Amino acid sequence: GNPTLTDTRGRPLHDLRISVTDRCNFRCVYCMPKEVFGRDFAFMERDELLTFEEITRLARVSVAHGVGKIRLTGGEPLLRRGLEDLVAQLAALRTPDGRPIDIALTTNGSALAVKAQALKEAGLRRVTVSLDSLDDVTFRAMNDVNFPVAKVLHGIEVASNVGLGPVKVNMVVKRGQNDGDIVAMARHFQGTPVVLRFIEFMDVGSSNGWEMGAVVPSSEVIARIDAELPLEEVAPNYTGETSARWRYRDGSGEIGVISSVTQSFCSTCSRARVSTDGKLFTCLFATEGHDLRALLRGGATDDELSAAMASVWRERTDRYSDLRSAKTGELRASGKKKIEMSYIGG
Ligand code: GTP
Ligand code: 5AD
Ligand code: SF4
Ligand code: SF4
Repeated sequence: GNPTLTDTRGRPLHDLRISVTDRCNFRCVYCMPKEVFGRDFAFMERDELLTFEEITRLARVSVAHGVGKIRLTGGEPLLRRGLEDLVAQLAALRTPDGRPIDIALTTNGSALAVKAQALKEAGLRRVTVSLDSLDDVTFRAMNDVNFPVAKVLHGIEVASNVGLGPVKVNMVVKRGQNDGDIVAMARHFQGTPVVLRFIEFMDVGSSNGWEMGAVVPSSEVIARIDAELPLEEVAPNYTGETSARWRYRDGSGEIGVISSVTQSFCSTCSRARVSTDGKLFTCLFATEGHDLRALLRGGATDDELSAAMASVWRERTDRYSDLRSAKTGELRASGKKKIEMSYIGG
């Protein structure tokens, strides 16, 4: 078989995250602020997007290189029409040793109640839903389109009921905005199978007005919860997991913290990303990607695609979060812009 594909730091390629649309019906302040993603923002045209067949072809090539997990993201992936058809195509893929792929979806939950059943039937394994507060006023302000908490909670419930669980819930914590809701969120999901994860506000892209002062370090999140609901740390599920796991000492479930800012996890990062228009990125904080769509549409064979993907991964040196402060200055000096998360895929 294939010798294992690794990058310059010995990291294998395990996880492919595919952005299926750069559009979203939310305007979360930390991701797609209205001032930037306004009425006249130019989203991609339909023919610029990879087709489901093109996506599946890239996925098949990546699976031959060791990818065992595919996450569909965006933008809001459920805005892409017929997404369940893509899921079905991906569900038919097999690893070199014959196992199916772990197919997951990151969604804002707004259309989940309607789509969960069809996605499950198509072969989706699990979903991660973003929810930043249980307080309706806070949540509506953070999604900035006045979307209510109750509809997202309903989506989570339907997803759990159709077997797309255990559902994970992501809460991006911004100081002064929703950090007062940390313990309430923990209490709400305590005793349920839902795994709540707190994410440090990150400096992705170049339009979300990030500043260190708005980051609540995960150590503080854990301390605040532990003071009321005692916690103990748990070993990771697998090497390279983004989140550190904690469980309630009374056995009532687990939570996680994703600490890209204060405790980077680049040393085990095995994730590649494909943007909506088919560029391969080897870091969430990249400024440039490798154009696979040009190859796909230029008549490249599977072997050529495979070789292109392998050479990009072999040459990979990325560790942005490890080097954040140095990198920030470097980027500023070069005038290069980091890619927006809605385009590259969270
Ligand atoms: P599972 O462990 O399979 O559930 O998935 P995951 O934790 O990789 O997926 P998820 O999409 O839920 O990731 C959670 C969040 O972590 C993302 O939305 C990002 O905010 C952040 N994240 C994921 N991957 C990376 C990464 O490679 N680098 C950084 N800095 N942040 C990441
Ligand atoms: N910092 C941290 N997480 C972010 N997400 C989007 N933008 C940011 C950011 N600036 C998260 C969303 C969602 C996933 C797609 O990425 O909350 O869970
Ligand atoms: Fe949309 Fe998710 Fe970005 Fe919010 S975080 S604007 S829901 S893509
Ligand atoms: Fe991976 Fe880049 Fe995130 Fe580091 S900053 S964990 S290299 S995606």
